[in-house]
Amino acid sequence: MKDVVAVIGAGGIGQAVARRIGAGKHVVLADLRIETAQAAAKILENAGFETSATQADLASRESIRALIEHARGFGPIRNLVNAAGVSPSQAPVAAILKVDLYGTSVLLAEFLMSSRGRWITGSDFLIDGGTTASYFYGDLQYLKATH
Ligand SMILES: NC(=O)c1ccc[n+]([C@@H]2O[C@H](COP(=O)([O-])OP(=O)(O)OC[C@H]3O[C@@H](n4cnc5c(N)ncnc54)[C@H](O)[C@@H]3O)[C@@H](O)[C@H]2O)c1
Repeated sequence: MKDVVAVIGAGGIGQAVARRIGAGKHVVLADLRIETAQAAAKILENAGFETSATQADLASRESIRALIEHARGFGPIRNLVNAAGVSPSQAPVAAILKVDLYGTSVLLAEFLMSSRGRWITGSDFLIDGGTTASYFYGDLQYLKATH
């Protein structure tokens, strides 16, 4: 068992953050498109990281729960990286709200506040590549990349 970095959104930012914090850990690459997750996992494996790939939809509570179960199978989840999202050039407003706003709230609720448990401990952190601010989430550092 190794400490786990769970990355949802296996695009450019997700992969870059995984490289920075994934050494010596198991890196779970999750994406709406399984082929994107698999390609990212292979790139990181070739760079010496231990990885796995899984499909996950940020906007689906059931999917996030399945991601948590997948990640927990490799060890304790130390870091959560939220780099999934869609921008105005990619999707209409309704889709942006569903994925970036509702999806992020579901992600945090399921990882941190679910009646099923809190899957990240206090000294660990989340990174959100999607929007515009930095927060401290209780004792948990929650970082968001800026535009
Ligand atoms: N690259 C930048 O300069 C920049 C700047 C500001 C904000 N952002 C935002 O940060 C996020 C990550 O940026 P990036 O450059 O890595 O983008 P990217 O497009 O390379 O990666 C985003 C990934 O999110 C996945 N995704 C989309 N909807 C999803 C969903 N519902 N569930 C799971 N995965 C989903 C996509 O398949 C894609 O692989 C995006 O939301 C982007 O809009 C990027």
